[in-house]
Amino acid sequence: MSTQGQQFAFYDLHPPMDDITAEVRSGMLESPKKLSPKFFYDERGSQLFEAITRLDAYYPTRTELSLFDAYLEEITQTIGYHSCVIEYGSGSTLKIRKLLQALSPSAYVPIDISKDFLLTSARALAEDFPALDVFPVCADFSQSIALPPQTDGMHRVGFFPGSSIGNFEPESAREFLARVAGTLGAGGHLLIGVDCKKDTKTLELAYNDPEGVTAQFNLNALVHLNRVLKTDFDPEAFAHEAHYNESSGCIQMFLRSLVDQRVDVCGERIHFGAGELLHTENSYKFAPVEFGRLAASAGFDIQKRWLDSRGYFGLYLLRAR
Ligand code: AVI
Repeated sequence: MSTQGQQFAFYDLHPPMDDITAEVRSGMLESPKKLSPKFFYDERGSQLFEAITRLDAYYPTRTELSLFDAYLEEITQTIGYHSCVIEYGSGSTLKIRKLLQALSPSAYVPIDISKDFLLTSARALAEDFPALDVFPVCADFSQSIALPPQTDGMHRVGFFPGSSIGNFEPESAREFLARVAGTLGAGGHLLIGVDCKKDTKTLELAYNDPEGVTAQFNLNALVHLNRVLKTDFDPEAFAHEAHYNESSGCIQMFLRSLVDQRVDVCGERIHFGAGELLHTENSYKFAPVEFGRLAASAGFDIQKRWLDSRGYFGLYLLRAR
């Protein structure tokens, strides 16, 4: 599609279904059973996540937004104009809209696993920013991704808000950041939001909201699996749980089986005992010094860092070495 010279091209690098089947089956054979958090994000899951970001209890989004509002000018002065902005996981479009407005980049590459959500939001952004070339890529961003060739030679600016870095296991977080540093190239920037360690009560409330939206979000992973892999999970036979594990510094999310049951997972009958847990997500929290060490080990220097007054959330501008 081309409007007034604007380019819009979609790249589908979604992993083949066989890979997903094998991954889900092997997670069901682990102890405790495990399901990757990427299965949260079908169209409904992305909508539920957007709803989470608006909850009173879920402080990360609004705290990050307030940092954005306060420091966007400084960010723009540091990065400069006409870059290529690569967004890892195109979630809420509010932050990216602010960033695109401020940076006036030449190209925008949103990468997301949820194809319908990605295309809908990429099209809406292309319409609202007619001077911007938009190249959505449907992919699992925890894997290596080749960027669209149209962006070759541009100054690259990665954008990874919302503390999604916390959803990786520590070693995978380092590998992911190192891959991003390679993709951005020496001198490329990464603007990244990182949730800080804090008191257990605040953390647990954020993942056990009284409205029950996080519970729906967690359970929707089963609905998603039923649709794409023809599994026969009964979401009503599971309950949402989230606890802060202080020793590992992460919120851990589970679905607890409410009854003794068997579920058909791609041709295999998987047994869940009553009370058995299916682990669906870890959300690591980082003291600023811990995140500094992680970024450095992945090949980044911290160029700037901003924290809110309560020290709840950090926004970091990193530069690849
Ligand atoms: C996307 N990610 C950073 C969220 C988090 O806080 O770890 C996902 C989420 N899970 C439950 N609530 C929000």
